[in-house]
Amino acid sequence: MFLVSGPQFVVQACRSGLMGSFPTQNARAFDDLVKWLDEIRNGVADVPGATWAASMIVHPSYDRFESELELMKDYKPDVVVTALGSPKRVIDEIHGYGGKVFADVMSIEHARKAAEAGVDGLVLVCHGAGGHTGKLSPFAFVDEVRRFFDGTLVVGGAISTGRGVRAVEILGADLAYMGTRFIACPESLVNDRYRDMLVRARITDVTATAAVTGVLCSWLTESLSDAGFDEETLSTQGKVDFSDVHGENKPWKDIFGAGQGVGQVDRAASMAVVADQVVAEYHAALGRG
Ligand SMILES: Cc1cc2nc3c(=O)[nH]c(=O)nc-3n(C[C@H](O)[C@H](O)[C@H](O)COP(=O)(O)O)c2cc1C
Repeated sequence: MFLVSGPQFVVQACRSGLMGSFPTQNARAFDDLVKWLDEIRNGVADVPGATWAASMIVHPSYDRFESELELMKDYKPDVVVTALGSPKRVIDEIHGYGGKVFADVMSIEHARKAAEAGVDGLVLVCHGAGGHTGKLSPFAFVDEVRRFFDGTLVVGGAISTGRGVRAVEILGADLAYMGTRFIACPESLVNDRYRDMLVRARITDVTATAAVTGVLCSWLTESLSDAGFDEETLSTQGKVDFSDVHGENKPWKDIFGAGQGVGQVDRAASMAVVADQVVAEYHAALGRG
């Protein structure tokens, strides 16, 4: 998650039995990214079976693309998740070292294109997700995609409990993608204002709008109001631009992303505590089945 997941987030997720993931653009400078990757590699070295993922922007406007791809070949994340563009640009290189490529998709058209490009997995970002959100219901999206794709299916969007993980498994997913549930963890990069807002927020405190970045995103309404957005500005279309993600115009710094599952975040518990809770909920849901 942009400006949320850093190396400790990934390491502690892996140490808690999850697959940790972070977007490479979170490292402000290329040298920072190298340090982060070292920290992750060393931090999970003693965790048996640890798997971790890095998410890369593959949009043509992202100027660190080539150099980041070289780094991926050195550090070999188990999975590279591609966002905001065609996964074609990375598949051969990642497969070259034995890694897998998953593409973030929000529409049938993009799912089909990514499947045709030869990805190993698709991440179906569904309605209610934090950050860039899809509009489709997982109930329909999974079934439609299964008609033409038999690789790994990951489903995301407002999954904040182990019951939710079990639910998408029943729908036909192999993995659940959870973001919002973990943002308030002390291992994330966010400030306490963001943490406090998450703990207070419920589903009614989330607004989805394209006004901020030009792409439909789910934000905490309170942070939008604090940043001066009103009914009129929220209904306009913002501008898509990934060329300077850490530049002066930084919506994600002051406007806080969160999905509809934010109501489950009731304190800033550690990654290990949240992971244990999710696992316990998952087993309880299995028992019910
Ligand atoms: C604050 C925030 C930032 C995000 N940034 C990114 C990002 O940089 N790249 C990306 O592929 N997805 C990003 N996402 C989306 C997540 O990868 C994931 O799809 C989403 O968190 C799942 O929905 P959930 O938050 O309801 O669990 C972000 C989500 C949030 C909440």
